[in-house]
Amino acid sequence: MLTVVGMGPASLGLMTPMALEAVKQADVLVGGKRHLAQFEDFVGERHALDADIPGLMRWIAAQQGRRVVVLASGDPLFYGIGKRLVAEFGIAQVRIIPGISAVQYLCAQTGIDMNDIWLTSSHGRDVDFSALVRSAKTAMVTDTRCGPREIAAGLVARGAGERWLVIGENLAMDNERIHWLKARDVSEQYEMNVVVILNER
Ligand SMILES: C[S@@+](CC[C@H](N)C(=O)[O-])C[C@H]1O[C@@H](n2cnc3c(N)ncnc32)[C@H](O)[C@@H]1O
Repeated sequence: MLTVVGMGPASLGLMTPMALEAVKQADVLVGGKRHLAQFEDFVGERHALDADIPGLMRWIAAQQGRRVVVLASGDPLFYGIGKRLVAEFGIAQVRIIPGISAVQYLCAQTGIDMNDIWLTSSHGRDVDFSALVRSAKTAMVTDTRCGPREIAAGLVARGAGERWLVIGENLAMDNERIHWLKARDVSEQYEMNVVVILNER
């Protein structure tokens, strides 16, 4: 049985009891080093994730009869490994236990409602800046190639420098920081972050 659990943005306290129980019952835990390290007491096998996703799919397919639990950051189906696992094995073979996405967590910390929000990503993909300018409320997961600074520069270049960027950095960690800045004022690089872009504060 293959289970994918949402880890939430960082702390185990943000995982659901169902997700924690699935981890406890696992024969093998699969995840990034940062995620695996959080389960110090887990006594089963650990399998560290690397960039070789096709290799991971082959390895999972070979684990017949074992309870394999894949740890996914935030929610597995929001720009996470869940999509690839469902595409590969089919939803009948994959149990997904949802998690709190970093975007949901940032909205909770700031009181930004998620009604009518456009959920998107700059993580490993090109941003459609025309669509971004048209959208009144957007949330994005980002990466180091296209983070708040590059997103803000794209907005400024299209005359949208007055938009607000709410940048949630290292969410749910000891070094969490949340910044409210107009696009024209964003100049720094930030550590792991998600961004909400608003017309008005
Ligand atoms: C592959 S995406 C996964 C998104 C995840 N599935 C979710 O629901 O939040 C990875 C991106 O999520 C965001 N992210 C994940 N955890 C975060 C955290 N604790 N603080 C800020 N951003 C985070 C960052 O934009 C990171 O580059």
